[in-house]
Amino acid sequence: MAAFIVFEGGDGSGKSTQARMLAESLTGRGLDVVLTFEPGATPRGAQIRALLLGDESAIDARTELLMMLADRAQHVAEVVRPALARDAIVISDRFEPSSLAYQGVGRGLGVEVVSELSAFARGGVDPDVVLLLDVSDEVAAARRPVAEDRIEKAGAEFHSRVRASYRDLALRFGWTIINGEGSPEAVAARVGTCVGAAIGPAS
Ligand code: TYD
Repeated sequence: MAAFIVFEGGDGSGKSTQARMLAESLTGRGLDVVLTFEPGATPRGAQIRALLLGDESAIDARTELLMMLADRAQHVAEVVRPALARDAIVISDRFEPSSLAYQGVGRGLGVEVVSELSAFARGGVDPDVVLLLDVSDEVAAARRPVAEDRIEKAGAEFHSRVRASYRDLALRFGWTIINGEGSPEAVAARVGTCVGAAIGPAS
C-alpha cells in the first residue's frame, strides 16, 4: 500500500540515519520502499542543490526559497508521485516542513506565504505522516558534521530558531514529535511505533 513518510528536524537531528534505518526495516519485510531526500534527489535537483549549498556567496532568502521549491516540484514529479502511483512506500529525508522552518521562520519569510508557494510546488502530494526528530541544541551541535554547507554555517542562533520553530509548527500542522536523543536503535524503536500508528500494520 502506498504511503508517504517524511522525516524532519534541524541539522544534526539524526533524521537521515533514521530514514535509512526505517527504509531498511521495511524493505526487509518485502515492501516496495523508495528512500529519497530534499534538496537534490533528481538530476535537475542535484544541479539546484549545488547552486544552493555549493559555495559561500550570498543568496537572497526569496531566491533560496524558490530554488528549494523548484527542487521540490521536480522531486514530486520525478520520484514521489510515480512511486506512490505504483503503491510504494516513499520515505523522504526532508520535504515541505523544512521550507516552513528554515525559510518561513529561520529566514523570516513567513509561514503562510511559504506554505502557499510550497503547496503549488508539490501539486497536491501530501505526506501521510511527518516525523519530527527533536533533540536539544547541545546534542544537535555535537552531531553536526565537521565540513558544513552554506546553511549549516548559518550560526547557532539561526539553528536554535529553526529547531524551536519546528516544535511550534508541529503542533500547528499535526506532525509527530519524536525524542531524537539516545542510541540510533532506541530512536528507531520510537519511530517504528509512530509509523505503525500512522500508516497501519503493513509497516
Ligand atoms: P541536507 O544536506 O539534507 O542536510 P541535513 O543532513 O541536515 O538534512 O539539507 C541541506 C540543507 O537544506 C539543510 O541545512 C536544510 C536546508 N533546507 C532548507 O533550508 N529548506 C528546504 O526546503 C529544504 C528541503 C532543505
